[in-house]
Amino acid sequence: MPRRSPSDLRWSDVTPKSLFLSRRHFIGAAGALAFASTARAAEPPGDLTPREAITTYNNFYEFGFDKSDPSKYAGSMTIDPWSVEIAGLVDRPGRYDLADVLKDQPIGEHIYRLRCVEGWSMVIPWLGFPLAGLLNRVGPQSGATFVAFETLARPEEMPGVKRRLLDFPYVEGLRLDEAMNPLTLLATGLYGDPLEKQNGAPLRLVVPWKYGFKSIKSVVKITLTSGQPPTTWQRLQPSEYGFYANVNPGVDHPRWSQASERRIGEGFFAPRRDTLMFNGYAGEVAGLYTGMDLAVNY
Ligand code: MTE
Repeated sequence: MPRRSPSDLRWSDVTPKSLFLSRRHFIGAAGALAFASTARAAEPPGDLTPREAITTYNNFYEFGFDKSDPSKYAGSMTIDPWSVEIAGLVDRPGRYDLADVLKDQPIGEHIYRLRCVEGWSMVIPWLGFPLAGLLNRVGPQSGATFVAFETLARPEEMPGVKRRLLDFPYVEGLRLDEAMNPLTLLATGLYGDPLEKQNGAPLRLVVPWKYGFKSIKSVVKITLTSGQPPTTWQRLQPSEYGFYANVNPGVDHPRWSQASERRIGEGFFAPRRDTLMFNGYAGEVAGLYTGMDLAVNY
């Protein structure tokens, strides 16, 4: 299975270059069949967004509003030591060191599209593992129906937090069944290397069928709840940002059409691409929303 790596690796050594290169080489040599069976909805590797674009065109408002601010200023964020507090309706709550969070999780490569609500997209070769593995380990209790996430908020290391650009800490949430879907990842790296700080090191959420703002970075707390948790963007502007935020070309954002997208790295004059329902992952996730009006639950 090319996108699975040994499960006993830690963040600091999850991504040796040689392993990554040999895995990619294997994908090429083994052909499309092996690749398709392990990375559903994958793009051909040739369509990957260049690493340079993924690491310099960012949204991470803790470091400023400009797309170039995170790569300029995130260097000041301390990510070692790092721990994640797991709280709420779980059997084994507590503060887990990063190494403990990663312990026994099957870290591997997952090539996913990321579609931002602003109308651009990327194709990113993440390294990470399904969030479900961690949730199963801490044991959601029967009353848990949602999962809330929180990002580090350290004004002395984060100029955007200091200037109160948003109501920090940045918070997000998923329904528990969305969080348990195999597509939902905790990412530790990209392009075979540990995550850059501007991309949400050392650990960030990736939910590929939802707009990018759901993919919360630099996670320090995960809480299992019985009620729907508040989310940063919904709290700021509920008419523009819903809790679900599923990619949906048929439901426009008040300020941006969601029907098409610009692929970052292709140049500004490249033709826009049609946006796909659930960002192309309908086969995997449409069933989560059976009977829901997605124009109301946007
Ligand atoms: N997480 C935090 N903590 N703060 C943020 O500002 N921005 C979100 C999301 N996660 C954001 C965040 C938005 S709007 C997008 S599009 C993606 O991160 C961008 O991820 P990338 O910069 O790695 O491409």
